[in-house]
Amino acid sequence: MERTYISSVRLNSPVDEDSYLHNLAVVRHLSNMKELRFSRAVTFFVGENGTGKSTLLEAIAVAYGFNAEGGTRNFSFSTSATHSDLYRHLTLSRNSYPKDGFFLRAESFYNAASYLDKIYEVEFRNHLQTGYGDRSLHEQSHGESFLALMVNRFGGNGIYLLDEPEAALSPTRLMTLLANIHELVREDSQFIIATHSPILMAYPGAEVYQLSEEGIRSMDYRQTEHFQLTRQFLENPEKMLHYLLEEGKKP
Ligand SMILES: Nc1ncnc2c1ncn2[C@@H]1O[C@H](COP(=O)(O)OP(=O)(O)OP(=O)(O)O)[C@@H](O)[C@H]1O
Ligand SMILES: [Mg+2]
Repeated sequence: MERTYISSVRLNSPVDEDSYLHNLAVVRHLSNMKELRFSRAVTFFVGENGTGKSTLLEAIAVAYGFNAEGGTRNFSFSTSATHSDLYRHLTLSRNSYPKDGFFLRAESFYNAASYLDKIYEVEFRNHLQTGYGDRSLHEQSHGESFLALMVNRFGGNGIYLLDEPEAALSPTRLMTLLANIHELVREDSQFIIATHSPILMAYPGAEVYQLSEEGIRSMDYRQTEHFQLTRQFLENPEKMLHYLLEEGKKP
């Protein structure tokens, strides 16, 4: 049995009709289904830009008690109130309590790093070990700092909500990320990840939910548009480029 700390999410009340959330496909579909289940250790939200992956992930994170801008449940910084109030309409089914947790918001990793710089100013200056490594995340490249955060800070028995963790990573490091996720899953962790990466979504046994106007569908990662389009492109880049550039067609 795989460990899940959040086993499902459901909409418990209608969102305000004046809010953009009301017309968001993912919210409409959630309101038509009993619940969205998380039965695997790793769940992915995939789908076209703007389908609501980040909105849903963030609302789950805030409903769970994370800081809306990312971090652990103890992070308390805020820069601007950018999060939606969808979390007020969500009910999460919780299983046991995790020992660890982290919400990585793609857009606010920089602010989370600044927050840690303030807290660990002395330690980082003197290269003393902290739960986040021994040097400022700002002194590392985007990809390095993300992996450093994961290696130093993610301790297992945890719930990790990640929004496009692939953004900073080379293909090699993306595979490192897969291996790191696997280690943490073996240590009873749960991941819910919004991603566009066909490499990441290949994690064995993961649940892949594709969000679209038509609904929230569970599918094999090979069926996703991300995987199929990437494969078509890599199998014959010239053909795809001709189609896009010479014939002026867009997918
Ligand atoms: N404050 C806001 N006011 C109005 N519309 C918003 C607001 N915030 C987000 N949206 C809209 O909600 C939709 C869903 O956004 P969201 O960021 O969740 O998409 P996404 O699936 O994460 O996309 P991407 O793959 O590009 O990250 C988008 O169409 C966006 O324009
Ligand atoms: Mg997003």
